[in-house]
Amino acid sequence: MRKPPGPKMSKLVGNVEAYEKDRLGFTLAAAQEYGDIWAFSDQVYVVTTPDLAHEVLSATYTTYGPVRNFFHRKIKGNPTLQSEWDQSRAARMRGMRPSAMGNRIPHMAKIVDEVLDTWPASGRLDAVPQFRRLASTLGAYVCYGPHDEGVMRSAEEDLFWALLPVVGSPIDLPEWLPTRNMRRRKQAAQALEQRILGIISRRRAEGRTEGDDLLAMMMDPAARHGELGDGMLADALMATMLAAQGAPAPAMSWVFQLLAAHPEVQEQVRDEARLLEDVVDAESLKRLSFTERVVKEALRLYPPNWLIARQVLKPAQLVGYDVKPGMKVMIPVWSIQRDSRSFSDPEAFRPDRWIDPSPTERRAFMPFGGGPMLCMGTIWSMMEMTLMTALVARRWQVDVVKGAPWSMDPMRELTPNGLVLDLKAHTTVGKV
Ligand code: HEM
Repeated sequence: MRKPPGPKMSKLVGNVEAYEKDRLGFTLAAAQEYGDIWAFSDQVYVVTTPDLAHEVLSATYTTYGPVRNFFHRKIKGNPTLQSEWDQSRAARMRGMRPSAMGNRIPHMAKIVDEVLDTWPASGRLDAVPQFRRLASTLGAYVCYGPHDEGVMRSAEEDLFWALLPVVGSPIDLPEWLPTRNMRRRKQAAQALEQRILGIISRRRAEGRTEGDDLLAMMMDPAARHGELGDGMLADALMATMLAAQGAPAPAMSWVFQLLAAHPEVQEQVRDEARLLEDVVDAESLKRLSFTERVVKEALRLYPPNWLIARQVLKPAQLVGYDVKPGMKVMIPVWSIQRDSRSFSDPEAFRPDRWIDPSPTERRAFMPFGGGPMLCMGTIWSMMEMTLMTALVARRWQVDVVKGAPWSMDPMRELTPNGLVLDLKAHTTVGKV
């Protein structure tokens, strides 16, 4: 079988060793050296252009399938569950459409402020865990509404930490293996599932089946999705809660790492935050166009999902190269979004490149993936990240603590591990 070019590899482990030493550097260098498609090993090809990436992403569920997703694994091979999962996607999308998210902004702003009240007026802040707490608190509200959010606040964190060693493992271990990590993951998933099922049965018992939160919308059958079983509701909500903090926490940390490195941009974000009314709503959020561009540019330079993986489901061709079941195709969002063929001065942090982006730039920007598995939280994330950025920047001057080492960790979501922020309260700008 004709194979694309690629770095010289060991017969036994392919390029694993070189890749593990520096995942990001290796991926970027290979894209620059070998072009549109390159072979990581006999079984793994990497596509490096936006066109090829979209070709693969848009054929998800037909030619290519998702890889190593805790929830998809549960569903894989069970057509009944798969069709229910598709219905649950339609139900969730209904609950996350722009108007539904827009209605939640005033309460989300209130939650952000409550959490920010617990941050130091001046001093150090561990960026990733604190943004994770903020994002997961907002996630609990979106999923369960003001009535039940308290029951769920931070409940998914146990599952997140329990999943980490399993998902981050380079070896795809079978589910039934009685390892400590597998047991821990199972227990955490069961505990979270029980809490969710408890809320569902309480709502049914109280006849509380209507509301604006995601669960209520999923419990209320609509034209595009029928009745969902309790087990599927719980699975879909667990997936949503995990996703709601998985990527936004590192993404927000990158935003403030970049704002600390570019004080003039931070100043502009703060000036724009003055446009927010006392009651922050969807209308006032729309005024923060510069802040939204900052968020977009941070997602371009540091996409949390920096590498999207697919397994080949049926034989196909990619620019003349055969791929067949058993193989994987990788999409390195990281190098695609730093390619000088798509972006001028690609390494530079330039939020204003998003004022009037070219079709090429639009197509090469894919932090939320694409095709049928496009991130369901795209609207949610853009709104919440713009909101959080403005509300933090209007309270504090944010720097990175000098001399505190942090590192770029690509093991799971691309994360600035150990990033410590130095907060200084503004004297001129008060809180909400
Ligand atoms: C900075 C924020 C976020 C980024 C960069 C991000 C990125 C992504 C990407 C790249 C995918 C596709 C993965 C693939 O194709 O294999 C995805 C899927 C998904 N995202 Fe996000 N995400 C973010 C926030 C959120 C939030 C807040 C939610 C909340 C609901 C969410 C929910 C989901 C779900 C449910 C899927 C799976 C879709 C499916 O299986 O059909 N994401 N996300």
